[in-house]
Amino acid sequence: MIEQGQINKPRAVNNHIIAIGGGKGGTGKSLITASIGICLADRGNSVLLIDADLGTANLHTFLGLEPPKLGLSDFVSNKESAISGVITKAGINNLKLISGAKDMVGIANLSYGQKAKVLNNIKKLNYRYILLDLGPGTSFNILDFFLISHCGILITSPEPTSIENTYRFTKGLLFRYLRKIISKKVVRSLIDNGIRQRNGHKFESLFDLLETIETIEPGLGDNISSYLSTLDIKLIVNQVRTRKDRAIGQKMAIAAKKYFGIPIDFLGNISHDNTLRKGLLQQKPLMAYLPHSKAFKELTEITQKISPRYQLGLGFPTD
Ligand SMILES: Nc1ncnc2c1ncn2[C@@H]1O[C@H](COP(=O)(O)OP(=O)(O)OP(=O)(O)O)[C@@H](O)[C@H]1O
Ligand SMILES: [Mg+2]
Repeated sequence: MIEQGQINKPRAVNNHIIAIGGGKGGTGKSLITASIGICLADRGNSVLLIDADLGTANLHTFLGLEPPKLGLSDFVSNKESAISGVITKAGINNLKLISGAKDMVGIANLSYGQKAKVLNNIKKLNYRYILLDLGPGTSFNILDFFLISHCGILITSPEPTSIENTYRFTKGLLFRYLRKIISKKVVRSLIDNGIRQRNGHKFESLFDLLETIETIEPGLGDNISSYLSTLDIKLIVNQVRTRKDRAIGQKMAIAAKKYFGIPIDFLGNISHDNTLRKGLLQQKPLMAYLPHSKAFKELTEITQKISPRYQLGLGFPTD
């Protein structure tokens, strides 16, 4: 069993927070966040979309809105003291939005205190679903936003660079998660070395790391593996065009199990759809063209597979 003081258990949670990320830029994270939000709201759920892409916030554009006067950056900078003060209407029943940053430097420059404040306040919000649209990259701040979620959805396109980025993102996420849940100092520093790949330690896979942990603390590596298997990480392959593209998601889920030892739940494919592309280029609100697109049926089916699992979740303490 996991020994006292070695693992920091995730906290109990009230709402269902879903992060949408994946490392590579331009894969469709924002489009999918907005679309899933619309589908969930349409089914009567209260939904809050949060534009956590503090580098190039654009979620409001997908909803056909002007940049809201107040956004997440105003809460971070204390211009607005309560997070509820930066929540705006999204023009759709049951759907609300927290827009991103306006004049703020990128997310990579958020201080630890700012990040903890945002994360802790998001967790207290009372919506059935809270969707976090993350920016590209694998910075600790982006990984942390993914990790406070109860469910994280990785978005990849079929391109090899995007697939590679998704694996890199997943590996970074798991190392970061371990760093958060394990309090034993010697094991923590081992993980840090794995992340930074310095001092001669370079872990090729998570199994590598867990084996090393086992030699330091027999039993702990195995306990961590079973702990990792409870993570709720999902995958969508977006902009698929061919049969070969459609097979990628399942293969990635099998590879994740093999190399990382974690289950990744492949939710499905979304076709490359010119209706979406054209609508976005014309800067129309998503609602004006989404229901007429081929991708809409796929998005609706994917949304039906997203159900709350309150008892689980990454939800690590932001200490
Ligand atoms: N299924 C699709 N069919 C057609 N075009 C798509 C599809 N998904 C995304 N796109 C196109 O890709 C572009 C990028 O989408 P989006 O802004 O959602 O990506 P992103 O992952 O959020 O990007 P970033 O990493 O910069 O935040 C969109 O403007 C759109 O034109
Ligand atoms: Mg985006």
